[in-house]
Amino acid sequence: MLNLDGVHVCYGQVQAVRGVSLTVGAGEIVTLIGANGAGKSSILKAVSGIHPISGGSIASGEIQLHTLPAHRIVRQGISHCPEGRRVFYDLTVRENLMMGGFVLAKAECAERLEQVLGLFPRLAERIGQPGGTLSGGEQQMLAIGRALMCGPKLLMLDEPSLGLAPLMVETIFEAIMELNRGGLTVLLVEQNAAFALGVSSRAYVLENGQVVLSGRASDLAADPAVRRAYLGG
Ligand SMILES: Nc1ncnc2c1ncn2[C@@H]1O[C@H](COP(=O)(O)OP(=O)(O)OP(=O)(O)O)[C@@H](O)[C@H]1O
Ligand SMILES: [Mg+2]
Repeated sequence: MLNLDGVHVCYGQVQAVRGVSLTVGAGEIVTLIGANGAGKSSILKAVSGIHPISGGSIASGEIQLHTLPAHRIVRQGISHCPEGRRVFYDLTVRENLMMGGFVLAKAECAERLEQVLGLFPRLAERIGQPGGTLSGGEQQMLAIGRALMCGPKLLMLDEPSLGLAPLMVETIFEAIMELNRGGLTVLLVEQNAAFALGVSSRAYVLENGQVVLSGRASDLAADPAVRRAYLGG
């Protein structure tokens, strides 16, 4: 479903991603773990076309995604829920969600809205409330909901658990698993490696913009080096 081959991402002189190759198969949950600055968000931004790549290729099937502008990548069924949520504070929950459905026809938009509110009933209760007045966890639900509005095949989530209380982390991860059971493919970036490896089929460990380890999530969770660096021993 998604193939990165030797991808490089630069910000001026800074080489954030150095020759990363990875795959995400249809129906999988794949996790990228790595320390701050490892290049995780840069990879997601490259896939969604927010930032250009400076080498390599990103493909979905026959389609070379890195040659397309961001809005065309959304139309290919790839949606990005960014780091830090980026909820529109002054817009209501409904308006925030509708922003995510901009590529859809009106009827389809209404249908997607019902599905998102079914997944996150908390958002339905707060549908007319400004996004900025939601709790952190509710804002995360809203950010995920907005990313789901375009009806993606592949959802990329950047640190969905960041700053959330344990119970809310569980709620968010349960929603991710429910979506995956429904057929959605997920590329997850997480600092909460224990949770992420628990729900993923495979994972990649990034250091300084390079993949240093990859494999089945259960194998990585048992790897002593991974345990020391990312799972607290
Ligand atoms: N807009 C930018 N301009 C310049 N450098 C950037 C920019 N965005 C990221 N970088 C640099 O690229 C590198 C990788 O950043 P990136 O955000 O991809 O890391 P990350 O793995 O997502 O880290 P974190 O866990 O802190 O979110 C870092 O060294 C960062 O300073
Ligand atoms: Mg990041």
